[in-house]
Amino acid sequence: MADVPGWYDNDIERVVVSAEDIRTKTDELAKQVAADYSDADGVLLVCVLKGAVMFMADFARALGRYGPPAELEFMAVSSYGQGTTSSGVVRILKDLDRDIAGKHVIVVEDIVDSGLTLSWLLKYLESRSARSVEVVALLRKPDAIKVSVPVKYVGFDIANEFVVGYGLDYAERYRDAPYVGVLKPEVYQR
Ligand code: XMP
Repeated sequence: MADVPGWYDNDIERVVVSAEDIRTKTDELAKQVAADYSDADGVLLVCVLKGAVMFMADFARALGRYGPPAELEFMAVSSYGQGTTSSGVVRILKDLDRDIAGKHVIVVEDIVDSGLTLSWLLKYLESRSARSVEVVALLRKPDAIKVSVPVKYVGFDIANEFVVGYGLDYAERYRDAPYVGVLKPEVYQR
């Protein structure tokens, strides 16, 4: 199987987005953001842990080539519990470390699935008086959307199936896979 390191060969049914496609797309998204914020003196990237951590690191580095300068902030929220569907009930596990009033905020998301988490998060950030709030999401599942959320920058639209890898987990595993893929059904029965 191309693009799958040996360790995960037995668990992955199919690669949905390869590591190379992620790299190329991340660079494109960074160029778009750089062009749109060319007049800004800086942006504040807000990463939603843990799923977006790989994308945050790669996106921030790509933006570092094109500007504007970015500051990095991390939040952790919980919306899924143990299962694979969003509950819509969002809990803050880790809040922002500082004031975002007057800043151009860009939320860096791994995946927009139902949109419930992001919709909640955008309201939260706006309530903290950001100057502007936009979203860059590596993945989006158009067929899973339950609430409409404005996502200005999207890497890939994918089918409505549970994916792992590149930060995304199943039971805390597979985050370290360099690609995004679908697990074999038997993995869920273990
Ligand atoms: P929602 O449904 O609120 O998604 O847009 C919120 C968060 O849930 C995680 N998520 C996934 N994680 N595979 C995963 O490993 C998936 O297919 C998936 N869909 C959603 C993700 O952290 C997202 O930000």
